[in-house]
Amino acid sequence: MSNNTNALEIVDLRAGYDASDVLLGISLHVGLRERVGLFGPNGHGKTTLLNTISHVIGPRAGSIRFMGEAIDALASQKIVARGLIHVPQANRLFPDMEIMETLELAAFTPRAQKELKTNLECVLSLFPRLAERRRQQCKTLSGGERQMLSIGVGLMCAPRMLMLDEPTLGLSPKLKDELAEAIAEISSRGIPLLLVEQDIAFVLSLVDRMYLVDHGEISREINRGAEVDHQDIMDMYFGSERA
Ligand SMILES: Nc1ncnc2c1ncn2[C@@H]1O[C@H](COP(=O)(O)OP(=O)(O)OP(=O)(O)O)[C@@H](O)[C@H]1O
Ligand SMILES: [Mg+2]
Repeated sequence: MSNNTNALEIVDLRAGYDASDVLLGISLHVGLRERVGLFGPNGHGKTTLLNTISHVIGPRAGSIRFMGEAIDALASQKIVARGLIHVPQANRLFPDMEIMETLELAAFTPRAQKELKTNLECVLSLFPRLAERRRQQCKTLSGGERQMLSIGVGLMCAPRMLMLDEPTLGLSPKLKDELAEAIAEISSRGIPLLLVEQDIAFVLSLVDRMYLVDHGEISREINRGAEVDHQDIMDMYFGSERA
């Protein structure tokens, strides 16, 4: 372990599927107490990036360091055991399992087992709806409740950092606000965050810094509080299509 100031450090990361290269050399970092956003339109590689970090797919080149140590050659389970937790875009809850079973089962690593009771209390107080419905099966949950449970599952893994892939996709503005509050609360406990979102205003309200992803590359970095011209960003991505 080093006393570095970054939770996550990625240099020139390349990855893809079969003959297609999707990530064309991504470099980014997330500080130890930092909340960082990743914004970009459909199909530009955001999910591929998170999947490569958590080793759902193997990197083709480049390096990934978590808490000062190289993790690019580690299997996903080992990455989870180290506390780098990825809450995927399409949640993978077991349909017949109840909320409580799902949360308890998620704490499968030794570290998560040790923290099970505390983390369960934390999830149920963060998401009272889950507490109210603790015996309800996953398949009967609403979209918003499923997203809450997916984040809850991530928290049960005893995260030292969380990566969330479009947690508010398809949610009503009210639920989106509720989830934003929960996410802010999680990061206020000192858990660094990498948050993928397609709503610039929303992501900027939650993060310290944001990267724009453009065709598998980082095209720009924006600090919170910086003057951001939303139209400028939309033009950058969609300008040619609208012309
Ligand atoms: N399993 C796969 N096999 C082949 N190609 C894939 C696979 N998954 C994604 N791709 C392709 O990789 C590219 C990037 O996809 P990715 O899911 O990373 O984009 P994204 O930025 O997360 O998009 P969205 O905003 O729609 O979630 C797309 O062209 C997609 O079709
Ligand atoms: Mg995606």
